[in-house]
Amino acid sequence: MAVPYLTAVLLLAMLSWGQDFPFRDPTLPWEERLDDLVNRLTLDEMVLQMSKGGVMWNGPAPPIERLGIRPYIWNTECLRGDVDAPGWATAFPQALGLAASFSPSLIYRVANATATEVRAKHNHFVSVGNYEDHTGLSCFSPVLNIMRHPLWGRNQETYGEDPFLTAELGVAFVKGLQGDHPRYVKASAGCKHFDVHGGPENIPTSRLSFDAKVSERDWRMTFLPQFEACVRAGTFSLMCSYNRINGVPACANKRLLTDILRGEWGFQGYVVSDEGAIELIMMAHHYTQSILETAVASVNAGCNLEVTCVLKRNIFSYIGEAVANGNISLEMIKDRVRPLFRTRMRLGEFDPPAMNPYNALGPGDVQNDAHHQLALQAAIQSFVLLKNRNGALPLRAEDVRSKTLAVTGPFADATAYLFGSYTPIPELRYIYTPRRGLATVFPKVTFAAGCSSPRCDKYSPTEVKSTVEAADIVVVCLGTGIQMETEAWDRPDLALPGHQLKLLQDVVAWAAGRPVILLLFNAGPLDISWAKAHNGVGAILACFFPAQATGLAIAKVLVGDEGANPAGRLPATWPAGMHQVPPMENYTMAGRTYRYYGDDPPLYPFGYGLSYTLFRYSDLVLGAEVVPVCGNLSLSVVVENVGPRDGEEVVQLYLRWGEASVPVPRWQLVGFRRVLVPQGQVTKVPFLLSFHQRAVWAGEWRLEPGSFTLFAGGQQPFQETRVPSNILRADFSVLGSALKRSQC
Ligand SMILES: *[C@@H]1O[C@H](CO)[C@@H](O)[C@H](O)[C@H]1NC(C)=O
Ligand SMILES: *[C@@H]1O[C@H](CO)[C@@H](O)[C@H](O)[C@H]1NC(C)=O
Ligand SMILES: *[C@@H]1O[C@H](CO)[C@@H](O)[C@H](O)[C@H]1NC(C)=O
Ligand SMILES: *[C@@H]1O[C@H](CO)[C@@H](O)[C@H](O)[C@H]1NC(C)=O
Repeated sequence: MAVPYLTAVLLLAMLSWGQDFPFRDPTLPWEERLDDLVNRLTLDEMVLQMSKGGVMWNGPAPPIERLGIRPYIWNTECLRGDVDAPGWATAFPQALGLAASFSPSLIYRVANATATEVRAKHNHFVSVGNYEDHTGLSCFSPVLNIMRHPLWGRNQETYGEDPFLTAELGVAFVKGLQGDHPRYVKASAGCKHFDVHGGPENIPTSRLSFDAKVSERDWRMTFLPQFEACVRAGTFSLMCSYNRINGVPACANKRLLTDILRGEWGFQGYVVSDEGAIELIMMAHHYTQSILETAVASVNAGCNLEVTCVLKRNIFSYIGEAVANGNISLEMIKDRVRPLFRTRMRLGEFDPPAMNPYNALGPGDVQNDAHHQLALQAAIQSFVLLKNRNGALPLRAEDVRSKTLAVTGPFADATAYLFGSYTPIPELRYIYTPRRGLATVFPKVTFAAGCSSPRCDKYSPTEVKSTVEAADIVVVCLGTGIQMETEAWDRPDLALPGHQLKLLQDVVAWAAGRPVILLLFNAGPLDISWAKAHNGVGAILACFFPAQATGLAIAKVLVGDEGANPAGRLPATWPAGMHQVPPMENYTMAGRTYRYYGDDPPLYPFGYGLSYTLFRYSDLVLGAEVVPVCGNLSLSVVVENVGPRDGEEVVQLYLRWGEASVPVPRWQLVGFRRVLVPQGQVTKVPFLLSFHQRAVWAGEWRLEPGSFTLFAGGQQPFQETRVPSNILRADFSVLGSALKRSQC
């Protein structure tokens, strides 16, 4: 009885709803409804929809009351949880830590949970008429910029230094956020910052006016692929960035926003400006001279939506004048407004509410048990074991029961420093610092911070000394935090801040041979060469910014509990010193990231990470040794767990070009897979190398014949090896004449 009854009610609801206007009729095709909606709008109404706040910089796009259209707020942040909306939210690890998991499925689940919380809270906000900042469903996430310099303040928001890794993880995020409902989008994604972003942050004028001078090849091979992948994954939005690209501000860059984005990639969504990026075209870049000229340049280049910051009246609110003067066509305005309403329509705003299952999400879907568990799993999966001398970790069960563990350093018990930037705020009771988390496992945990903030400019050794001397095991928690690296804040150097190294050296001396475990909380690489080399430091674990579950995850990993065996891998190179790093202002990729690095070995290479167990690789088998120019290549490799316990391994596949006619990376990650291999067991891991991945940029994407080499293993080729025969190689050749990629 219930089902037919509900169906009848739903049908009635749809019928009465649909009588309103065709754009509300869920039986019509989306594009027909959009035509109806956009064609009903006056020029003035359309113009007001093209700025976040209508006329004023603040607030939502205004309602259109005669059509029953409510306000909509566009600036929501969802990097790893619901950021900055009123109320609590689950805090998942910062993006760079998620990237270290090398696990698209983890990122999919984090984005899915994020969208659930964003939607659940949004449902409440709308029900009480709250349209303030960050309460919407359209996310300014994920960040797909390449980590191109170790000192950049925003490295933590990225997925690391490799375009392929970034693309794979970005696609997983976009799909997880937008959901898999055939009709409705759970929350809409917005990949940023488009494009060639990642220059100097810390000088205010530089951050907002930097001109990135990029070669066409670096642009195509390093700064565009992950955004193209985001578009193919179906993102509804991209955000244009603050910087100029070869002289033209990104938000007024027709080549970028129209020729490449819409022309080459077929993007149907909207481009939103970074906050203030449009007024800065005029005020910081001095690329335009007047407000009207700025509006015309940006709209005609391909921008749909302005988010202002400094000016009190939006630049796009003057667009009506530009249309009257003939500088922008009315058709162009309709084109620009259309994707905004397409997004809102697919989010479900104009359908009968009962049709959209996401409307049922509510307070019980925020900070629930499943999300706490996922936050813990994500933190565990993000950790990278950098050093483990003589099996210092995991700690032995008998030690855990009977010994005293001292935890020290500025990150040991400070809730404020473990989250990183763009973080959701969970309730305090869900936040586990290292000290609190370790106390769930060790009966006796003692504590002395040594310095009260990551700056560590004042260091008090006395209490640390007595605490360390009375302990059996010492955990030292060092790093950076948003005091040292964040948006608008680059680091001055690679050093551990302030007296942190001194603190570590003192602890090692006072521990006098007892195990010392170093935990690092940072995004940009640190110079930890002393800790790497010194025998007094038994283990080093890079934790990034694990957020709410920090301490619980650490406790599980230190004792290897319930399969918590670290398997994260570095998503960026840790250089041995700044002599290995080209200047941030210089945009060439030469000498930068593992793809173009010099021969001088880094401190830790991209892709590096240890395990509590050992893996052996064998049987790298190619489906063919000769491949046609447009052919794909299937292959497989066998991984065996030859160590003492179950573990996950990140199998990495790298391609090297033999004789490309144009410059190419020295080698390129072309596949990776995080697999669980139980102790003593063997897993065969298949890969498909598509012809796309062999393409080179030669004024166009081109496939060339020649010889190629594949490397499969738990690491990059030719870098510090973890165990013998950890990397295998196989050669193949491509026959035929060179072709454009589009001809394949
Ligand atoms: C995605 O989130 C929903 C809750 O909105 C949950 O029921 C579902 O299991 C999640 N899917 C995955 C793959 O985690
Ligand atoms: C608008 O178009 C006119 C005529 O082509 C041109 O002279 C003027 O500079 C343009 N104004 C702006 C703001 O682009
Ligand atoms: C940038 O670095 C490259 C490679 O090191 C060098 O050839 C080029 O001259 C530099 N450009 C500038 C503007 O300094
Ligand atoms: C090669 O792989 C791509 C996906 O990467 C696929 O779209 C294409 O159809 C494949 N081509 C052949 C000939 O199998």
